[in-house]
Amino acid sequence: MDTPRELFLHELSDTLSAEHIFLKLAPELRREAQHAELKTALQEHEAETKGQIRRLEEVFKVLGEKPEETTCHAAEGLRQEHEALHEESPAPDVLEIGNVLGMAKSEHYEIASYTGLVQMARDLGEREVADLLKQTLDEEQAMAKRVVTLSKDLGKEVKAEIKEQEREAKQQEKAAAAK
Ligand SMILES: [Fe+2]
Ligand SMILES: [Fe+2]
Repeated sequence: MDTPRELFLHELSDTLSAEHIFLKLAPELRREAQHAELKTALQEHEAETKGQIRRLEEVFKVLGEKPEETTCHAAEGLRQEHEALHEESPAPDVLEIGNVLGMAKSEHYEIASYTGLVQMARDLGEREVADLLKQTLDEEQAMAKRVVTLSKDLGKEVKAEIKEQEREAKQQEKAAAAK
């Protein structure tokens, strides 16, 4: 690899692999989701991901190249982290929190990837390609925002549950003291 263009093609191949890895993981995350909002977000993003794969294939076409895949080790690592979480036999609601945290990592990884790709496309004077990649970047940013909001909502539920437990414990203490 001698030229920035070759590096760009390598990065595109890597990102195509990442999209496929995340797409394969999506149905499992959807099955594990308990909240309707999370299920919907996953379903919508799964469809979006298929579009992003088509868009990457279009990018290769515009560049006059064949779409190639180079295993994305980062995405593969994120997938393995999901497996590692399973090995801890988490309760379903705990698994859901873990999955949302994992999704936030994946989306931010994709944001970093596409930010770099858009930048490279512009540097190489590939305006049409830059525009295509920017569309995906916008989708990833929107999804990351959605995931962060979901994570905060789940956090609020955790806080409320702890408060409720504390309230119950206090009541029990009071009842015991009154005896
Ligand atoms: Fe994606
Ligand atoms: Fe994504």
